[in-house]
Amino acid sequence: MSISIEKPLPQTEKAIGSYVIPSITLTEPSFLSLVIPTYNESKNIEKLIKVLSSLLTPVLQSNYELIVVDDDSPDRTWEVAQSLVKEYPHLRVIRRQQERGLATAVLCGWQIAAGNILGVIDGDLQHPPETLLKLLEAIENGVDLAVASRHIEAGGVSDWSIVRRILSRGAQILGLVILPGVISRLSDPMSGYFLVQRNAITECYVNPIGYKILIEVLARGRINQISEVGYVFQERQTGESKVTKQNYFDYLHHLLYLRLSLSKLSDLKQDLSFPFKRFMRFGVVGLSGVCVDMSLLYLLHDPARLDLGLTVSKIIAAEISIINNFTWNEIWTFGDISSRQDSWHQRWLRLIKFNAVCLLGLVFNVMILNLISNLLNINYLMANLVAIAVVTSWNFWINLKFNWRVTKC
Ligand code: GDD
Ligand code: MN
Repeated sequence: MSISIEKPLPQTEKAIGSYVIPSITLTEPSFLSLVIPTYNESKNIEKLIKVLSSLLTPVLQSNYELIVVDDDSPDRTWEVAQSLVKEYPHLRVIRRQQERGLATAVLCGWQIAAGNILGVIDGDLQHPPETLLKLLEAIENGVDLAVASRHIEAGGVSDWSIVRRILSRGAQILGLVILPGVISRLSDPMSGYFLVQRNAITECYVNPIGYKILIEVLARGRINQISEVGYVFQERQTGESKVTKQNYFDYLHHLLYLRLSLSKLSDLKQDLSFPFKRFMRFGVVGLSGVCVDMSLLYLLHDPARLDLGLTVSKIIAAEISIINNFTWNEIWTFGDISSRQDSWHQRWLRLIKFNAVCLLGLVFNVMILNLISNLLNINYLMANLVAIAVVTSWNFWINLKFNWRVTKC
């Protein structure tokens, strides 16, 4: 089937600029509608449809549909896709002529979808199709949202430059600052590869700006249980990425817009609730680290003891106190979280990240100490206390959000 759309699809309810996913009565108990947004993907679309069909047909038989939503691509992707419909009867093609944008294309596809499981995958083969079967398994086990993630075990990116990695992580940190209650629920909130239960997003007004449809689903949907599946983001073989500088501004706009519109008390409460118990434990562990550091420095450097050089002694003392702190945080402060992620690989990774956060904290400590004592002319010991308080809070927050991540599912 092919549909050509010149205007946005009729809304089921009046909400200017918003989309509403309608509720439907299902003929099949479990039916997947997978949307493939495309813009100039004529060289990729055939291969993708072929691989997806060969993966899904044995598992779902005829209980699925692939919906290509193309924004009138100059390379006529819609035409190529349409020519495949004969061979792949579960394929539907939408050609939008008056709107552009990845996120709205996905919503447009979901609006005409027949399934109770809605999904999205990129049309450029950068999302490995095989991961779809794992996502399907997760959603069929009853979670509301199953997301393919680059940032958990078995996940990653292929050949990204350090700049691209920093930009990607920077965007995530920005999200955590502006919208902590939403962004911290997932390791990869930027993912564009996921499945969601239709009933978790029906009758919600969704109004995404730009690229990040998943953030909208998380923020506005009724998402309780989430499952993440690791995947490696592949390099593009043909065609070009459509990401422009404008997308970064759109992303910021989207976050701020959501921040303003999510004024429901429950959301605010969620954002503002501060984990005091954990923070107290983190502080106590920090103090134990100071004791370890001081005692070791004395043992290593004192002429009557080991008499090692001051710098070497301090480095050894600091590293051992970091390991001390890590161990207690691992089994006490964040024990409930680490017991759920307890492979040696995961523990090592947390130790390395903890080291990095401490090191960065040390740099901040020195900067703040200098800033307060020199600029404000405050006694250096007082200034150090302030610096320690600020850096401990920073260490705690970053570790909570990035290292021992609390997922609310
Ligand atoms: N219909 C439509 N309209 N499709 C679009 C548009 C548009 O305006 N812009 C991009 N697309 C399609 C592309 O053709 C591709 O199939 C998919 O959306 C992703 O676009 P890319 O430009 O290839 O994005 P990317 O590779 O940089 O980013 C992807 O990876 C991120 C990280 O996981 C996207 O999938 C993001 O959604 C994802 O977050
Ligand atoms: Mn891509």
